[in-house]
Amino acid sequence: MDRVAGKVVLVTGAGSGIGRATAKLLADEGATVIVTDINRPGGLETVQQMGGRARFEEQDTSREADWKRIIQDILACEGRLDGLVNNAGIAGPFPSTFESETVEQWQRILSINVQGVFLGCKHGVPALRSSGGGSIVNLSSLAAFLGTPNLSAYGASKGAVRQFTKTVAIDCARKGYKVRCNSVHPGVILTPMGEGIMPNDKVKDRVRGSIPIGDFGAPEDIAYGILYLISDESRFVTGAELVIDGGMNAI
Ligand SMILES: NC(=O)c1ccc[n+]([C@@H]2O[C@H](COP(=O)([O-])OP(=O)(O)OC[C@H]3O[C@@H](n4cnc5c(N)ncnc54)[C@H](O)[C@@H]3O)[C@@H](O)[C@H]2O)c1
Repeated sequence: MDRVAGKVVLVTGAGSGIGRATAKLLADEGATVIVTDINRPGGLETVQQMGGRARFEEQDTSREADWKRIIQDILACEGRLDGLVNNAGIAGPFPSTFESETVEQWQRILSINVQGVFLGCKHGVPALRSSGGGSIVNLSSLAAFLGTPNLSAYGASKGAVRQFTKTVAIDCARKGYKVRCNSVHPGVILTPMGEGIMPNDKVKDRVRGSIPIGDFGAPEDIAYGILYLISDESRFVTGAELVIDGGMNAI
């Protein structure tokens, strides 16, 4: 019940799917959660569903001004920041091969999935340090390990998050910041994004059949991994990749 008791944690993109499940689980385990999303109704709905302490702020994670405002507000209202979950992300149009992808689509996906994570680390780390240390979790994907012919920019963006996470982890560790940074790699999870890449039941059955464990993941399956990485149970874990995918990456 109290695995993250007393911690203040920011979860981006928490108006839906994995972010929403994570925000709810962290609050159930004793954290104060700042729910942010570009989608105001979704974020407010998450806060309404939560039993614990939570509040919503609108944020576009690709915008530096939004990061400065959110971090300032957290330090002013909660007085500290102990955890940051860089979860917000988009898949972009499906399918998008490298031959059909436009420069505009490519830049939009990278501005949210990569620049958003970079800005979160850049502005989150000083706040975590000033609170005595903390933990960052960056949402990458199984896509960081495999070719993704129908999601070309998305795969590239998640590969970047996987690598950048290790850079932040090592830099912070060597500088004695007491800030850990790890990446989480979901397989196919039933959220609006996950459903979006499976246009019909035939495709869904085919994808399900390719998962060794025999079924899709639920948002809560990912939330439990994030909870561990935010909690002090993982105090010796940094620069790691937590794959939660029903076995797909082991084939
Ligand atoms: N669902 C999957 O199968 C899967 C697999 C691997 C990785 N992931 C990753 O997990 C994370 C969450 O995905 P999900 O499946 O819950 O997706 P989702 O679409 O259900 O939720 C994503 C949330 O991010 C928000 N968002 C989008 N752009 C934003 C921005 N610029 N600023 C702030 N918020 C923004 C959306 O409004 C939405 O509420 C993403 O980073 C995604 O790439 C998901």
